[in-house]
Amino acid sequence: MKKNGITKTIIFSLATALILTASTAVASSHEMPGADAEAFWKYVTEKNSYTEWDFWPGKEEMYEGTHPHGAYLKLYVNKKALKALKAGEEMPNGAIVLKENYGKDGKTLMAITPMYKVEGFNPEGDDWFWAKYKADGSVEKAGKVDGCIKCHEKVKDNNWIFNKVK
Ligand code: HEC
Repeated sequence: MKKNGITKTIIFSLATALILTASTAVASSHEMPGADAEAFWKYVTEKNSYTEWDFWPGKEEMYEGTHPHGAYLKLYVNKKALKALKAGEEMPNGAIVLKENYGKDGKTLMAITPMYKVEGFNPEGDDWFWAKYKADGSVEKAGKVDGCIKCHEKVKDNNWIFNKVK
């Protein structure tokens, strides 16, 4: 009888542990959007607002841009991207590097161009999801965007990223 009670307790604890593990796994996989332009925009403007992220190390605030991006740029990185940059590692699943492109007046936000790593999205392109939004969040381009890929391909060996951490 007693032995039975112990067995029941053990089974009960194992079941509880399993349920807890399963629900944590579900919660974390739902934390970030898939390769979906609208869901991504919602994520970076509401759930985890990019304006509260860190700037690219050494590119604090606005800086003068290079063609074809804006005359002035701001470059934001999420926590996952920042961690990899600091450690000099490959960009992990979930990393986001997001650029605000400003006009010549240095005030008018012309476009937002992020790159977002989504495991399995595009193995040929190292799983980067590319997008271009207008300042109001409307989508101009998104997904495996040819233009972005063809140019950023030049810096494939640097995670498809032109900027370097100095
Ligand atoms: C003709 C080349 C070219 C095209 C096309 C292009 N980019 Fe870039 N991109 C650059 C260069 C050069 C930089 C570095 C700009 C800087 O920070 O001074 C850059 C920087 C970036 C960065 C910051 C990370 C980095 O690489 O330094 C992001 C994010 C980005 N581009 C996204 C995009 C997206 C999204 C598209 C397509 C909608 C795109 N780019 C199209 C050349 C290009």
